[in-house]
Amino acid sequence: MKFCILMGSPRERGNTASLLVPFLEECGAIGVETQVIPLYDRAVNPCLGCMTCQDAAGGPGCVQDDDFEEIFQTMADCDVIVLATPIYAFFCTAPMKALLDRAIYAGTKNYGREKGARLLAGKRLAAIATCGYPPEKGADLWEEGVKRFCRHGGLEYMGMFCRRDWGRGEPFLNEEREQDVRDFAQAIRISIRAEGL
Ligand SMILES: Cc1cc2nc3c(=O)[nH]c(=O)nc-3n(C[C@H](O)[C@H](O)[C@H](O)COP(=O)(O)O)c2cc1C
Repeated sequence: MKFCILMGSPRERGNTASLLVPFLEECGAIGVETQVIPLYDRAVNPCLGCMTCQDAAGGPGCVQDDDFEEIFQTMADCDVIVLATPIYAFFCTAPMKALLDRAIYAGTKNYGREKGARLLAGKRLAAIATCGYPPEKGADLWEEGVKRFCRHGGLEYMGMFCRRDWGRGEPFLNEEREQDVRDFAQAIRISIRAEGL
């Protein structure tokens, strides 16, 4: 069982990173292999909208030569994709948006067609987010975008774990949040096990 965590925060010791520490620890404790990809350290250019990928049936088929195809392959090879991001302007951060823009077309070849290959179909996807507003006002649009991304590509959405940054100088991570994010890792694992994997 492998989770691929796409890390969309630029802050190595920020709030999102602090949630990932217990999340990853818990994954290790329950026998889940993890791979973290820090997107700010990788080169994924914005989508050019050229549509060349739509005619490449066997793979992503993007014309750009950067880290996209390698990351896409890691997403395709894992059991659960975890999108971890702070909320910026009510959505994910720019490197994650660039990746999702590229992945939604390279992974779904149905532009102008009734049916086309869906390279991530059946894959599970979960989200971890942090935001300044209460989650229902800060991360709601992001969660809706993630759900539609999943629906479009035939992925199974497993839910979002989101906590608020109070910005009051108090530590973002407390015992309760730490336990909650551990429980989130467990819940994903348990729901996959329920499917017999
Ligand atoms: C440029 C920028 C834009 C932000 N936009 C939003 C926003 O639209 N909604 C929100 O709830 N919080 C917003 N925030 C707050 C962050 O999402 C929040 O502080 C988050 O926990 C930061 O995570 P990090 O420490 O992992 O970078 C923004 C923060 C920054 C720096």
